[in-house]
Amino acid sequence: MFIRNAWYIAAWSDDIRQTPFARRILDEPIVLFRDSSGAIAALEDRCCHRGTPLALGEVVPAGLQCGYHGLVFDRGGKCVLVPGGHTIPPDARVRSYPVVEKDAFVWIWMGDPSRADRSLILDYPYHNDRKNWPHKHTTYPIKCNYMLLIDNLMDLSHLGFIHKETIGGMSPALHVEAKMRTVKTPAGVRFDRWMLDSEPPPTYVKAAGFKGRVDRWQEFEFVAPGTVLQWSGAVDAGRGVFKDFKYGGSRDGGFSLRLFHGATPETENRCFYFWSTANGYRQNDPIATAELFDEIARAFNQDKTVVEAQQARLDENPGAPLIDIHGDGARIHARRAVERLLAQENSAVVPVAAG
Ligand code: FES
Ligand SMILES: [Fe+2]
Repeated sequence: MFIRNAWYIAAWSDDIRQTPFARRILDEPIVLFRDSSGAIAALEDRCCHRGTPLALGEVVPAGLQCGYHGLVFDRGGKCVLVPGGHTIPPDARVRSYPVVEKDAFVWIWMGDPSRADRSLILDYPYHNDRKNWPHKHTTYPIKCNYMLLIDNLMDLSHLGFIHKETIGGMSPALHVEAKMRTVKTPAGVRFDRWMLDSEPPPTYVKAAGFKGRVDRWQEFEFVAPGTVLQWSGAVDAGRGVFKDFKYGGSRDGGFSLRLFHGATPETENRCFYFWSTANGYRQNDPIATAELFDEIARAFNQDKTVVEAQQARLDENPGAPLIDIHGDGARIHARRAVERLLAQENSAVVPVAAG
């Protein structure tokens, strides 16, 4: 079951050009395109004439033209042309979905269009700040339910195991024993982790040239249904930046990165993982941006392997019990936030008047 009345990432802005772009979202076939004015549209990818995917057609000045018999649909899904100048049947339309292009993303609203309030879309200004946060982005199709991906991001005790050669660092115990604060938020959960006086992981040393031990942080915020914002970094140990989660001095001058994670369900057991890396160090050096991206890509491929294998195993025995351990606090909060939204949506059904 999916939360429908929510904004999901449908694509990166630069994925959508003046050619149809097909993508299944919440198990619905969607076609996205940019019309001749440059505005983006999202339509049901099923022609109302004979059911052909509209993604097989082409963008024309009046909208998207079906590749089978040439009906043209505008951005609102209304048929505006039947070839040969024939009458357009009044019910000739396909469903259109609200879309908003913002901060390098195309956001789509899959539920009731009258509730598609664009002010609900979160801000991610770093994608527009190339000077301080140069970034690179991509999309991974992943064969797992999108919440397995969120679970993975909400429990970083896996870093010392599956990412020990990349972003993890050498000691699994370091991650399990990190200082941690978890705070419930209206839309999800945020958690901060600190690993004080620790050995910097290989990625950090490569990027920022640390010579000794570091104070290292990871700040995560989950915003339901599918976004995780991350700020991670390290400075030389002993600068006193950490004071029991009351932050002290500047964290400039070390290693710092921002990661955006967006999970959009494709089906019940597949999702799209939209992610970007932005380097808060060596900002004038495009090699730093590219190297960080490549390094994180290695780590995320390690995650992909694990969550896909996990989904396959879970599918073999759906509903079989699983246990919770100490490190699951943030993950449980995230799941609860999604459950709350689902319950709200399901209880929003207008009651039938008695009598
Ligand atoms: S199926 Fe689209 S125009 Fe006929
Ligand atoms: Fe991971």
